[in-house]
Amino acid sequence: MTQESKDEGATGLPASEEQSTTVTNKGASASAFQTATKSVEKGKSSKTVKSDDGDDAKKPANLTPDQFNRLLSLNPALKKEVESMEPAKVQDMMKTLSLADVLAGASVSAKNKKDMASYKFWQTQPVPSFDEAKSIIEDGPMQEADIDKVPKEPRQMYPGFEWVVMDLTNSDELNEVYELLSNHYVEDDEAMFRFNYSPSFLTWALKAPGWRKDWHIGVRASKSRKLVAFISAIPVELRVRKNLLKSSEVNFLCVHKKLRDKRLTPVLIAEITRRCNLVGVFQAIYTAGVLLPTPVSTCRYFHRSLNWEKLYEVGFSPLPPGSTKQRQILKFKLPTTTATHGLRPMTKKDVPAVLDLLKRYLERFALAQVFTKEEVEHWLLHDPKRIPEQVVWSYVVEDPSTHKISDFFSFYRLESAALASKKHQMVRAAYLFYYATETAFSSPHDKGALKKRLNELVKDAMILAKKENFDVLNALTLLDNPLFLEEQKFGAGDGQLHFYLYNYRAAPIPGGMNAKNQPDEKHMGGVGIVML
Ligand SMILES: CC(C)(COP(=O)(O)OP(=O)(O)OC[C@H]1O[C@@H](n2cnc3c(N)ncnc32)[C@H](O)[C@@H]1OP(=O)(O)O)[C@@H](O)C(=O)NCCC(=O)NCCS
Repeated sequence: MTQESKDEGATGLPASEEQSTTVTNKGASASAFQTATKSVEKGKSSKTVKSDDGDDAKKPANLTPDQFNRLLSLNPALKKEVESMEPAKVQDMMKTLSLADVLAGASVSAKNKKDMASYKFWQTQPVPSFDEAKSIIEDGPMQEADIDKVPKEPRQMYPGFEWVVMDLTNSDELNEVYELLSNHYVEDDEAMFRFNYSPSFLTWALKAPGWRKDWHIGVRASKSRKLVAFISAIPVELRVRKNLLKSSEVNFLCVHKKLRDKRLTPVLIAEITRRCNLVGVFQAIYTAGVLLPTPVSTCRYFHRSLNWEKLYEVGFSPLPPGSTKQRQILKFKLPTTTATHGLRPMTKKDVPAVLDLLKRYLERFALAQVFTKEEVEHWLLHDPKRIPEQVVWSYVVEDPSTHKISDFFSFYRLESAALASKKHQMVRAAYLFYYATETAFSSPHDKGALKKRLNELVKDAMILAKKENFDVLNALTLLDNPLFLEEQKFGAGDGQLHFYLYNYRAAPIPGGMNAKNQPDEKHMGGVGIVML
């Protein structure tokens, strides 16, 4: 869920209509350190901010206490550091912290060792420290895989609680997971929006090809049987540069609000790790808005209004100073019909052609999933027999004479509950998913042509998403997205999505942004995986 700012960005920069910033859920954390500002984790709510120029990024940002608190909510380690500091020192830090530090969500401490020490759990895990990550030259596992050393039983759960496996083929249990997440998953700091992963979405996300029931882990209160925590994984084959990794994708970590700050998260993470290890999976990929040791890449969320008026009414989009509602509506107006010849919904018979195109397209990126035919079918085609409510929409471009598939694109639906709105219950957000185009392979390579083609395709994606009644289209700076974000009037988010690898040391991978935190064509070719 994302949100546009009506005042200033989470980073504290002034608002601007032209260059807007939005924060995205699963971005920063709305964790214990609550502030008066809006921000949603894992994608966070978003705010419009004026883009900085490069030199300014290095100057002290002179943060207000509120802005500083907001930064701390993005960075638990920094928060802990600050809590143990003298107030005068904190004041100094607020004055001297540079914008680049703020935007990167980085610690102000020059000594990353201290940072690492405050990650009581993560410092015990096979993940690179901040210091180490700076000097990684060769990619590779951090710990030897030894299946015989994997504990056969889970770590003991806290008294009064017990481990359970959630059976997502059972609609009651699926609904319990839905209930837990819809009440306790990622929300903005002001609790205005909260992700609403529908039961259909969870079925789609958690029953992907190869899924394992025992990777859907719950914690129940022994007496009431209430589900109070959840963590999950699905199997994926990852490619990190040239290396193929049999991995898991960990997602939907959630702890009931009443059980926060009790160190349940490390126990959940250890248990999902153990269950992956038991079947010979020793690497994982996961994303978070909070800064943990140590991201392999960082992307930024962008948001394109499709229904500006509703976004304004729910408090998601601001009315920029000097603008009018009418002008805003006009700014985001779209044609009613798509323009690409041969564009049509993808069907099952397109799967082999889409797989071939997608595979070649993703080879252009350093970090990507290696898709199978079954996975392409699962992730891109809506199957009403398995998944009652449509979650994913995919379209192909077919040449009318040769019948070859030259392009495809897709988006998925993820609503957020508009908790503070009397008029609207949900913000219907579409998230740009995978896409590919033959234009990327023109010889000689023609970046201008690729840019033109992607702009055409994404514009059509917006038109189709609007037709499906979506209010906003969200996208990160991954894939080739920096080629169209600005031109298609996406507003930049002030939250980031960090990508992490577990038990795998990898040199940094570009996230489509430059040092100024702006989308940059020169920093593409890194992240080619889209995580839900
Ligand atoms: C994220 C969440 C599970 C953390 O729970 P919590 O009660 O705040 O934290 P706990 O006391 O259980 O555990 C703290 C440890 O978990 C780590 N942690 C916090 N959020 C994390 C995340 N998203 N991913 C991995 N580790 C995380 C902390 O860094 C800390 O470890 P450290 O000592 O090494 O720094 C909880 O806040 C929550 O359910 N939030 C809403 C949903 C959400 O944000 N999910 C994560 C989406 S990426």
